[in-house]
Amino acid sequence: MQTIIRKVDENCIDEKIMKEAGALLKAGALVAFPTETVYGLGANALDEKAAAKIYAAKGRPSDNPLIVHIADMESLKLITEEIPEAAYQLADKFWPGPLTMVLKKSDAVPYGTTGGLDTVAVRMPSHPIALEMIRYGGGYIAAPSANTSGRPSPTLASHVLDDMNGIIPMILDGGAVGIGIESTIVDLTEGVPTILRPGFITKEMLEEVVGEVQIDKGLSADSKTPPKAPGMKYRHYAPKADLMIVEGAREAVIEKINALVQENESKGVCTGIIGTEETISRYPSGIVKSMGTRRDELSISSHLYSILREFDESDAEIIYSESFSEGAMGSAIMNRLLKAAGHKIMKV
Ligand code: TXA
Ligand code: MG
Repeated sequence: MQTIIRKVDENCIDEKIMKEAGALLKAGALVAFPTETVYGLGANALDEKAAAKIYAAKGRPSDNPLIVHIADMESLKLITEEIPEAAYQLADKFWPGPLTMVLKKSDAVPYGTTGGLDTVAVRMPSHPIALEMIRYGGGYIAAPSANTSGRPSPTLASHVLDDMNGIIPMILDGGAVGIGIESTIVDLTEGVPTILRPGFITKEMLEEVVGEVQIDKGLSADSKTPPKAPGMKYRHYAPKADLMIVEGAREAVIEKINALVQENESKGVCTGIIGTEETISRYPSGIVKSMGTRRDELSISSHLYSILREFDESDAEIIYSESFSEGAMGSAIMNRLLKAAGHKIMKV
């Protein structure tokens, strides 16, 4: 199969291209598209056969459910069994945007989309290209991140091409995404709303709207119970090199990383470093990459996955990363980085 890449300007969307993408989706084919979080791999969510193609293209385990993307509130009614008041309140505040809500599914949603679950995850993205494509594609688009399972989520169309070339018919290239890590997932199907995956929308932001919110206990590394979002149990985003996070006061971290690099280089081990604009000049050797600036959290979150992909192209055998736990998005960024590191963290 030949993969066609169509460049789309989000400020001036070419409706001809959208129609083309919509026709593919309606015919049961896959189209990759930008959202404000990461690139998604879309298929008609109400067509079990189309959803099955997503699992095949990604090599995704079949028990890992898909998020259904919609473009308006009316669409929520068809795919859910009941909509609690909290869902309306959260939608009012955060949709369109990087929030996914888990609700009871209706019969309209096939089990092939929900991984056999009686619940459905729903999101209304804010990216104009995503919204337009959903409308042209029939209104209900199942879309996981558009990476091969186990690779970092794509934040550029070129990342999608690296993983999906020859496997899907079309990629809509809308440039770099803004947030760079996947949406916050909140489960509204039982009692207290529960965060199943941290993201740009924080616990505090949710609590301002609906009161008490809890975090799924299964998310912590030492938990005995598995995470409630099936996808969170997999070791995602694993870079080829060994990744270790070094945490502590800035000067101590710089000193420790430089010492580790020296030690590795004396043994001939090629070493990578993940720092920031504020620190990269302090690392005299090793393959040094900047995540962004600590003055702007989005510059950090939006570069995380592309840096992991860049290291996969390099000769680095081991990577040391600074820690990024401070700030509103700290828990979301560290959730991804810790997974990539297999939870290896060194405190200095
Ligand atoms: O930002 C995002 O959410 C991106 C863009 C493309 O919208 N999508 C995304 O999808 O991250 P994916 O498939 O990579 O992650 C979906 C996560 C998985 O961890 C999955 O297990 C969980 O959502 N999930 C989906 N449906 C669920 C359900 N009914 N109950 C619990 N978890 C669910
Ligand atoms: Mg994913």
